[in-house]
Order: sequence, then C-alpha cells, then structure tokens
Amino acid sequence: MKRKRVGVLISGRGSNMQALVAASRKADCPYEVVLVASDKPDAAGLAWATEQGVATFALLPRGIGKAAYEAQMLAALTEARVDVVALAGYMRLLSEDFVDALRGRIVNIHPSLLPKYKGLDTHARAIAAGDTMAGCSVHVVTEELDAGEILGQVAIPVLDDDDADALAARVLVAEHALYPSVLAEFTSR
Ligand code: GRF
Repeated sequence: MKRKRVGVLISGRGSNMQALVAASRKADCPYEVVLVASDKPDAAGLAWATEQGVATFALLPRGIGKAAYEAQMLAALTEARVDVVALAGYMRLLSEDFVDALRGRIVNIHPSLLPKYKGLDTHARAIAAGDTMAGCSVHVVTEELDAGEILGQVAIPVLDDDDADALAARVLVAEHALYPSVLAEFTSR
C-alpha cells in the first residue's frame, strides 16, 4: 500500500493534528503526516511535531500579504509532495487560488453539526439556541467558510448544566476519534 502524504495546517495547540499523527503510526493507516505547517511560528503544536520527528514549516502572514503568504505555504506543501491537506484548528480562510491548487484534496474539522454554526463560538451558540445535540464535522474545504461536502459527523448530547467549555471538552474527545477515521477513509478513496 502506498500511503497518502498528508500536510496538516494548524494555528494553535494542535490536538487534532496529534490525533492524526498518532493514528498514522498504525501499520495499516492509509496516510502519513509528512508536514505540519502553521501561520503562527509559536503554535504549541509545532514544537510537539518537531519532538515527534515530523517536519514543520511556519510563516507569519503579517507584513507580506495574503497572496505571498499563501504562495509560500503552498510551495512548502508542494515540496513535501502532499496528496491531501488537513486543516486542524487552522484559523484562516483560504483564498480561491489556494483552494484551486488543491481542489477536493483539503479537509477540515469543525466543532459543530454542520451546516449549523459555521464560524466561531459554535458551542456557546448551540447552548444559547437550546440545542439538545452538538457535535463535530469533517468536511471538504472550499473557499466558502465551513462549507463543502460533509465527510463524517459525530453527535454529542448537550447536558443541562453544560457551559461552552464543558461541551467543547467533550466534543474535542469525539473530534480526536472522528478526524483520523474520516481521513483514513478519505485517503483510501
Ligand atoms: C477544534 O475544536 C477544531 O474543531 C477547531 O478548532 C479546534 C482546534 O483544536 N477547528 P486543536 O488545535 O486541534 O487542539
């Protein structure tokens, strides 16, 4: 089996990225993580990836403009010969040019039951709406925020005394199981 080469983009702690890397180490996993890249050179996840022996790339967009930033990010992904890009807490909207370069090969994990609650503060919004179920979704990335084909979802009950943090913590556990399994299915296509 030729494993698919995955580049993971992060902006922060990278717990989903860690789940993807951990899963990729199983012998029958159809993908390997060949690069972890970030728009935040001080992202905690980068240090973890380095400790794990995974190649990293970081570039601050500030001062160089979005087009130049994305071109360099794309060059790093191309040099790493990635087949698929997995966004994992990457807090930037991708331009149409970037998406075009990898159309249909970029996926993202989002902490809501899409199409509900695109964007930020998903858990607080679900609680405020009185939803009984929250959850997370993995979807194909387009230039539109949190849109694109939904590849997999997990629903998590909202408890009576939940606040956004408590709900987020339970959904995050589900994310760590969902993302590796959906990425395995996606990279086996
Ligand atoms: C996760 O909740 C993910 O769904 C969202 O941002 C958070 C990132 O967490 N897109 P981490 O950096 O993977 O720990």
